[in-house]
Amino acid sequence: MKVFRKIVDLQNELFEARKKKQSIGLVPTMGALHEGHASLVRRSVKENDITVVSVFLNPTQFNNPNDLATYPRTLEKDCDLLEKNGADYVFAPTAEEMYPTPDKRQFEFPPVSTVMEGKHRPGHFNGVCQVVSRLFYITRPQRAYFGEKDWQQIAVVKAMVKRLKLNIDIVECPIIRESDGLALSSRNTLLAPEERAIAPNIFKYLNESIEFAKTHSLKDTHNQVVSQINATDGLEVEYFSIVDGNTLQDIEKWEDSNYIVGCITVYCGKKPVRLIDHIKYKEY
Ligand code: PAF
Repeated sequence: MKVFRKIVDLQNELFEARKKKQSIGLVPTMGALHEGHASLVRRSVKENDITVVSVFLNPTQFNNPNDLATYPRTLEKDCDLLEKNGADYVFAPTAEEMYPTPDKRQFEFPPVSTVMEGKHRPGHFNGVCQVVSRLFYITRPQRAYFGEKDWQQIAVVKAMVKRLKLNIDIVECPIIRESDGLALSSRNTLLAPEERAIAPNIFKYLNESIEFAKTHSLKDTHNQVVSQINATDGLEVEYFSIVDGNTLQDIEKWEDSNYIVGCITVYCGKKPVRLIDHIKYKEY
């Protein structure tokens, strides 16, 4: 496995791979890697000749400076995990290398980029598109791998790929959970032990709401999830939106769509740590 800091060095290597007609899979990450990332890497290794993993904590997608400052940074450990899982190249540039001048491009793909995370973290998806489009231009992959945990992010990246007419297959990979149901996230390492102990309640109540939804209205199901989570000491719901899985627009009744997803963001603990998760109520 080779680690690259410079765009030109990675591009030279990929040029050679392309000459040999080797396919390229890209796994974009911000580091602090866990088993969820490892599953994306393994999938890419299986489906491509070359797997490139980018490890870049992208400043332009953080709307909260404290969130960026406290985000875990573990490059050495990340490289061990990547090597064990068969990655070929790690691309770990500095911020100056990625953004020699400020990126002034504006990406908006309403409605998918403006609701939920788009509304609560202004500028977040713009930053995600700035960095992901750069990574796509640098590596020119056949396929790029994204975890379903960041479910809205996948919809935004797909919209961007369509708008930029990029010939890249966006591969959605299943969410990976701890045995107690907590969705794996780099932010989980920021949880104090007592916060880690209550965090699985998010998925517990989401999961239980599938059964509840069978005999209750969408509105009652929404309220039930919010009140159960808020009743847990140390958890506070920022938003819970039950949306159409394609348009990401709020829906009012179960009959209104045959693809329905509940997306939630919860603050956990005193710092607090912001955790996201989702549940599929209907999938055609
Ligand atoms: O999902 C993430 O870790 C980031 O948003 C991504 C896609 C690597 C872009 O910085």
